[in-house]
Amino acid sequence: MVSSEYEMKPEDNLEMLENDLSSVSITDNLGTSLIGRKVIYYPRLASTMAVARREAQRGAAEGTVIIAGEQTAGKGRMRRTWLSPGGNIALSIILYPGVSSLPYLIMLASLAAVHSIEAVTDLKPQIKWPNDILINEKKVCGILTEGLVRKDRVIYATVGIGINVSLRAADFPEVSAMATSLNDESGRSVSCVDVVRHLLVEIERLYLNLADGESIYEAWRDRLVTLGKRVYVESGSNRLEGMAESVDRSGALQLRQADGSLTRIIAGDVTLRDK
Ligand code: BTN
Repeated sequence: MVSSEYEMKPEDNLEMLENDLSSVSITDNLGTSLIGRKVIYYPRLASTMAVARREAQRGAAEGTVIIAGEQTAGKGRMRRTWLSPGGNIALSIILYPGVSSLPYLIMLASLAAVHSIEAVTDLKPQIKWPNDILINEKKVCGILTEGLVRKDRVIYATVGIGINVSLRAADFPEVSAMATSLNDESGRSVSCVDVVRHLLVEIERLYLNLADGESIYEAWRDRLVTLGKRVYVESGSNRLEGMAESVDRSGALQLRQADGSLTRIIAGDVTLRDK
């Protein structure tokens, strides 16, 4: 449910001064055939995930993008909140993939985020398993995938991507030690529109090649900063320690522990032990 208190009406043409995002600025000559054919921009919203879910349940076209200038209740992985004041990127994309493609959505979104940041800046982002995008060891982008699967059929999937563009992490004590932004890292003002447009084009390119999930898996695996490192993993109430040995095709992490055993971890948070 989206709180109507926070939900301002989507605009049509309005150029937002705050962060130059609007439906038109994103879609104009975008050149995609699926992703971003329809972009619904809200100046302020609780969370793009909730609106994307609602639109998907109403049968929105595949590739529809819900984007917010600002989120008041941004949602992170593992029931965390995601900070998204104005001047940053918060969007969700509605997809209807086959069930066998589901594990690749996280890989695809991480790669697309990395490629779009590289296209617009000189920065060198890295992927921390499973899908945190880091610059200089601090998080600049988070990805959240949700969906509904019934009897081996994907009813819908929503891919949420948050990129810190102008966030001044130092102003937010709750994230200042671990977060950064494109502006802070590049020392200049990065355009949200440029990043979003590259992101959508890249997601489309990868999504249309999903049948070749093998190459997406390999590209994602090869960009992971985590592999071959000694790590701590928080997974549910467990805290494990070991060597991040490999990832399998479903995206799970294989952790080699001190007793020689190999544990397969589907979801968790990784911290590098030796920085
Ligand atoms: C994470 O915890 O790393 C995932 C963060 C995902 C944040 C994005 S911002 C756009 C979309 N809407 C949300 O409420 N969350 C995702």
